[in-house]
Amino acid sequence: MIKKGVKIFQTPFETAEALAMELLRRVEESNKKGRHLTIALSGGKTPTLLFTVLADHFAGEVKWNNTHFFWADERMVDPDHPESNFGMAFRTFLIKVVIPAENIHRIMGENDVDYEVARYSAEVGRYTEKQNGLPVFDIILLGLGNDGHTASIFPGNEQLFKTGKICARVVHPVSGQKRITLTGSILNNASEVFFLISGKDKAHVVKAILEENSRREFFPASLVNPASGKLFWFLDMEAASECSFKNAL
Ligand code: 6PG
Repeated sequence: MIKKGVKIFQTPFETAEALAMELLRRVEESNKKGRHLTIALSGGKTPTLLFTVLADHFAGEVKWNNTHFFWADERMVDPDHPESNFGMAFRTFLIKVVIPAENIHRIMGENDVDYEVARYSAEVGRYTEKQNGLPVFDIILLGLGNDGHTASIFPGNEQLFKTGKICARVVHPVSGQKRITLTGSILNNASEVFFLISGKDKAHVVKAILEENSRREFFPASLVNPASGKLFWFLDMEAASECSFKNAL
């Protein structure tokens, strides 16, 4: 019996393409209603394929003028640094589509981290509706680290799911790299949350989260549980390979 909200695809491309279609459906709905759509993007390598599909397969068909892009987290580096999450999205997607510059709300990795926490929090607050006193993103896209982190909420930072803050400064537990992340409270306040996960190296964590309900403090991603109930896991076969429900394709 496949778990609610889990969709499994044969390849990383098919997984990314299916998620791209879901996103585009929502972009078009917001265009029809003439209301803006707020999407918070994650970084890392996995979304590269999604951004490429969005840019290369649908570039001319989509009107992005009502869509506002934010980031779920960012490394505190310059935007043109190879590790910048914004930089990756810009190179693979944003530079290839027609979207107003004011619709791009990057976390400014070049700034002082405490200043940027305040600045980005204020910007998020300006462009989002509120629910439970917190900003509501229409969509948040998340990845999964093989230590169970998501956005830049690493193991041991579970308190970020109980805070009233919009974003927080954190440090990568291995590299010591400074980062800013949306808090777990914001992730769980979103209208819809989509995980995009590919690769065998994630299979053990996917199983632990989706099948074994592993001890929550080990895997921050297991604490993502939006009040809206709209939580979706887009997995390729490799990422789902240790799950018993993988054959319920
Ligand atoms: C980041 C991401 C992070 C990422 C996971 C998976 O800034 O690194 O936001 O949460 O989604 O680490 O990364 P990969 O897609 O590279 O495996």
